[in-house]
Amino acid sequence: MPGSPLIDFALTDRHVFVVGVGSGIGRACVRAFAAAGANVSCFDIDGEAATVSADAIGTRGRAFTGDARRLDDVRVALDAADAEFGPPDVAVDVVGETRWGRTIELDDDAWDQSFDLALRQFFNLARVAGRVMSDRRRGSIVAIASVSGLRSAPLHGAYGAAKAGMMSLVRTLAMELGANGVRVNAVAPGAVLTPRVEAMMSEDRRAASAANITLGRLATPDDIARAVVFLASDLASYITGQTLVVDGGATAQFPLSLRA
Ligand SMILES: NC(=O)c1ccc[n+]([C@@H]2O[C@H](COP(=O)([O-])OP(=O)(O)OC[C@H]3O[C@@H](n4cnc5c(N)ncnc54)[C@H](O)[C@@H]3O)[C@@H](O)[C@H]2O)c1
Repeated sequence: MPGSPLIDFALTDRHVFVVGVGSGIGRACVRAFAAAGANVSCFDIDGEAATVSADAIGTRGRAFTGDARRLDDVRVALDAADAEFGPPDVAVDVVGETRWGRTIELDDDAWDQSFDLALRQFFNLARVAGRVMSDRRRGSIVAIASVSGLRSAPLHGAYGAAKAGMMSLVRTLAMELGANGVRVNAVAPGAVLTPRVEAMMSEDRRAASAANITLGRLATPDDIARAVVFLASDLASYITGQTLVVDGGATAQFPLSLRA
């Protein structure tokens, strides 16, 4: 029932700091938080993309440019965002990159990049936002992981290991910050139809993937953003240290080839 405290996201005028806003999922998160009444700081390595995301939500958005792999960039942006919207109530980490390849053929660069973009940058955000939130004794952090960190597949070696590490870090942070009123969770999407994935996947491959998904379709960025807003909000007030799988039931089922 609208207005009921049980379904109040309690995000009105809260400050949400989102890292990696230029993509389908990040941009959808920005839109979803703004729709819930929050002010959103849009941080991205691509300043133009950050501005597009921030401008799309009008006065509720501000753009910040920096490299999330660099602690100082995150710290400087969060300080500037604090000056605009106050200290962060929510921090969302969307950055991550897929470097597919047979594990024994990956080079150091691909390995390091996967870990830097899944783990180092999340470590940075957690350190900067986590300290502020701990001091205020309130806050919520949500990281975008992947089902690749829960299940394994050929070519997912570095990416899957890095996302598994991210989910481990989420649990540890939840334990370390819980007593200070800070919740830390992850969302693990399956395949999401972001512009990047749309460009990469033929119609045939998309249909083949959809056949292995219980709901019969790939996710939209909005499907993921809704889960992120839920976990970030007070509706999830007793949820911490968890990974919410948002994959249309893909990991719940046997593959078609094993079914009777
Ligand atoms: N798209 C999918 O199918 C899918 C599935 C499962 C998980 N995920 C995860 O969801 C997240 C978003 O995926 P996507 O496909 O939308 O990503 P994407 O690669 O399209 O976009 C990521 C965003 O992060 C920004 N970014 C990259 N490096 C950065 C850095 N060092 N500092 C600051 N910003 C940086 C990019 O400019 C971009 O705006 C990733 O963590 C990805 O691993 C995606």
